[in-house]
Amino acid sequence: MKNKIFSTNLLTWYQQNKRNLPFRHTNDAYKIWLSEIILQQTRVAQGLGYYERFVKKFPTVKDLALASEETVLNEWQGLGYYSRARNLHYTANYVFNELKGVFPSSYSELIKLKGIGDYTASAISSFSAKEVRPVLDGNVYRFISRLYGIETPINTPKAIKEFKIILNELIDSEKPDLFNQAIIEYGALFCVPKSPKCHECVFQDSCYAFSKQKITEFPVKLKKKKSIERYLNFMAVKTEESFYLVKREEDSIWKNLYEFPNIESKKMFETEMSEELLGLNIKIDRVGKSTKHILSHQNIYAKLFVCSLGNGFVRPDSWQLIHADEFNNYPIHRLMEKLIESELEGELII
Ligand code: ADE
Repeated sequence: MKNKIFSTNLLTWYQQNKRNLPFRHTNDAYKIWLSEIILQQTRVAQGLGYYERFVKKFPTVKDLALASEETVLNEWQGLGYYSRARNLHYTANYVFNELKGVFPSSYSELIKLKGIGDYTASAISSFSAKEVRPVLDGNVYRFISRLYGIETPINTPKAIKEFKIILNELIDSEKPDLFNQAIIEYGALFCVPKSPKCHECVFQDSCYAFSKQKITEFPVKLKKKKSIERYLNFMAVKTEESFYLVKREEDSIWKNLYEFPNIESKKMFETEMSEELLGLNIKIDRVGKSTKHILSHQNIYAKLFVCSLGNGFVRPDSWQLIHADEFNNYPIHRLMEKLIESELEGELII
């Protein structure tokens, strides 16, 4: 298919099918950046509310920079992948302090910023400044791999080069912003992972995968390493209306988030847990059921032990007693939310 025909078909389809999304009505690089970071690994339906709250609470990069990391993590709560929120805050500070508060809109400046890779720099520079930089995200990989029958695994360094060559040919150099929005949208609405809308697809006649009936074989991915299994035992230690929380300090995905004190074990704790707790002088009143929490490289099996203080309890330094009404001021991770929802309903409202 000729490139011009491709982009004309794509843009016509986009005009008729696009979703009305708030970040498509701005060319403010800062706001576009917010939307793109929020939407990484997140569905639009889930991310929209976050985008709207962030723009309202932090209308400029200065507002975001001057907020505390804790405030930013709190706003992020529930989205997961918290390193995105920490990088967001770090980069806002960098732009405010080092770039006079002007959020860059050129690819070459954007790519230098923490948390911004090729996809995000291409998206921001094309949407805000019409730079001709094709975006390559999961949606685009899927669509293009099916259309051209590309078998290079998309999670290898070779793939980005190969797909970029094709996209640089296809992109509409007058409307790179619309082209990029449209190609993302096509992958998000039509050329979707399961049951794509091939029968309504405007590219059906030229699609390799459709013609060979191999839609489900694209995109090709190398199998990833097996996830590691971890067992975390959380203690909800209650005194009157308050619970103890600790702040996760170690360099993990949950760094700087709050959680119930916990002990990691080699297998699911049952009785050993009580022995550990004897050392802390804590009584186990109730044991919750096991919850599985899947992260990108680990499967976490978590249990919540609802406890009360025993005689001779001495508070470890890292434990902070927080009143149930104050929980909302402390950013917690998604697994904590799940444990509270399933085991402490009514006792703790988050
Ligand atoms: N996901 C990431 N960026 C997006 C965009 N601009 N439109 C729709 N979905 C997206």
